[in-house]
Amino acid sequence: MKELTRRQFGQTAGALTAAGYSRVLGANDRVGVGYIGLGNRGDQVHDAFLEWGDQQTAAVCDLRDDYMDLAVKKSRSNPARYKEYKKLLEDKNVDAVVISTPDHWHALMFVDACNAGKDVYVEKPLSLTVYEGRKMVEVAERTKRVVQVGTNRRSWKSYAEAAGFIRSGGIGKVSIAKCYHVRNEWPLGLGPAPDGPPPSEWEWDQWLGPAPKVPYNANRTYYNFRWFYNYSGGQLSNFGVHFVDVIRWFLNLETPKAVTAMGGRLGGIQDNREIPDTLEVVWEFPETLVVFSQMNANAAPGNAKNSEIEFRGTKGTMYVRNSSWEVVPETISDFPGGFAGGKGYGNPVDRSGTRRGNRKALIEAVVNKGTAAYDTNSHARNFLDCMKTRAKCNADVLTGHISTSSTLIGNIAHKTRSLLEWDGRAERFTNNSKANEFLHYKYRAPYKLG
Ligand SMILES: NC(=O)c1ccc[n+]([C@@H]2O[C@H](COP(=O)([O-])OP(=O)(O)OC[C@H]3O[C@@H](n4cnc5c(N)ncnc54)[C@H](O)[C@@H]3O)[C@@H](O)[C@H]2O)c1
Repeated sequence: MKELTRRQFGQTAGALTAAGYSRVLGANDRVGVGYIGLGNRGDQVHDAFLEWGDQQTAAVCDLRDDYMDLAVKKSRSNPARYKEYKKLLEDKNVDAVVISTPDHWHALMFVDACNAGKDVYVEKPLSLTVYEGRKMVEVAERTKRVVQVGTNRRSWKSYAEAAGFIRSGGIGKVSIAKCYHVRNEWPLGLGPAPDGPPPSEWEWDQWLGPAPKVPYNANRTYYNFRWFYNYSGGQLSNFGVHFVDVIRWFLNLETPKAVTAMGGRLGGIQDNREIPDTLEVVWEFPETLVVFSQMNANAAPGNAKNSEIEFRGTKGTMYVRNSSWEVVPETISDFPGGFAGGKGYGNPVDRSGTRRGNRKALIEAVVNKGTAAYDTNSHARNFLDCMKTRAKCNADVLTGHISTSSTLIGNIAHKTRSLLEWDGRAERFTNNSKANEFLHYKYRAPYKLG
């Protein structure tokens, strides 16, 4: 589909044919979008939507006035302002909402938005718990809402090409895919932050929402919440969900069969974080292992190409970094490695036929530079298009749920120090009833899902 920027939209909308959009877009076809959460990510997603002339910022909602001020200034419109998201959901000018609040708020806001008849772009990870994610899938299906989950790599052209390459056997049989979140946060990490009185009791209470009431601590709130389990699945569900989602997509994987994890605060970082600075998670999918490595107390590259994701196939390795990817061919020996041929490492009389000889590459090296940009515009575009056609988005709610829950069960394996067998259909562990208790948590009163 031809992509239009905001500027181009005004010039060319009248000339579009049915082959472009499902119908010609006029002024009346503008989508009224309400933004809930306008912090770090909400601001970026707002920018991405503003690139498209058929969106109008109809309303903004945040606990912070300064964040709303900025959004209104950028909006090129006169959006309504709300501090309570339920009021925004009552606004008739809002056709769709973008939810960019911390993870522990996603499910409640999402379910209320669907029930209010709004389509939803919800940031990743879809949910804080597996149970929430399933409820979100159910409500979206029941209310027939168009949903885009913020795993924006799903809308990258270079990634679609990479998926096609792997799926057509380009690197042979992939036995393992690994992904990395590498960063050295030693020594200060988040910095010191003592518990103390919140700047505003109301704001702290609203920020906590369904999460347990705990003393205010600045490190728990804006942006830094991803280092605390009451509000986030940590870097495993923050970065990991992007990577696991891409791996599931490229390899056409559904749910994992088993998961295990080890890690901890091993780097001596001096802050009050709860999540590990060092973590390894291993999932067993049918025929493929997937590994997530979080190394936050040392920044040496995770692999030879310092890539975020690597796919190891029998014929080559694909390294994926931002929107670019490259394939490095394997060199294959036509001589068996074992002793059966009579020549090899194990035969001291004649070592001539080792795997080192007769090696050749069966595939060509490939480099796909991608777009260099960390793009959200195309994901926003896909959502706006799907709102009009009612088609499934690139990152529909079920896709987002399976990718998110894959990461969340990694956290449960870590918490329970176990190897957990996962029934992806029932969404239950089959070998550890204690682990099933972590599939959800008790919301603080009066919060209820649904
Ligand atoms: N797709 C991506 O690449 C990407 C990148 C960064 C963050 N994210 C996701 O975006 C979400 C937000 O992360 P962030 O970094 O922007 O955090 P942030 O703390 O900077 O922003 C969250 C905003 O939500 C607001 N908020 C909190 N509770 C609210 C409530 N009850 N009502 C209205 N507003 C409320 C806060 O005031 C804050 O402005 C997270 O789920 C995160 O995982 C996605």
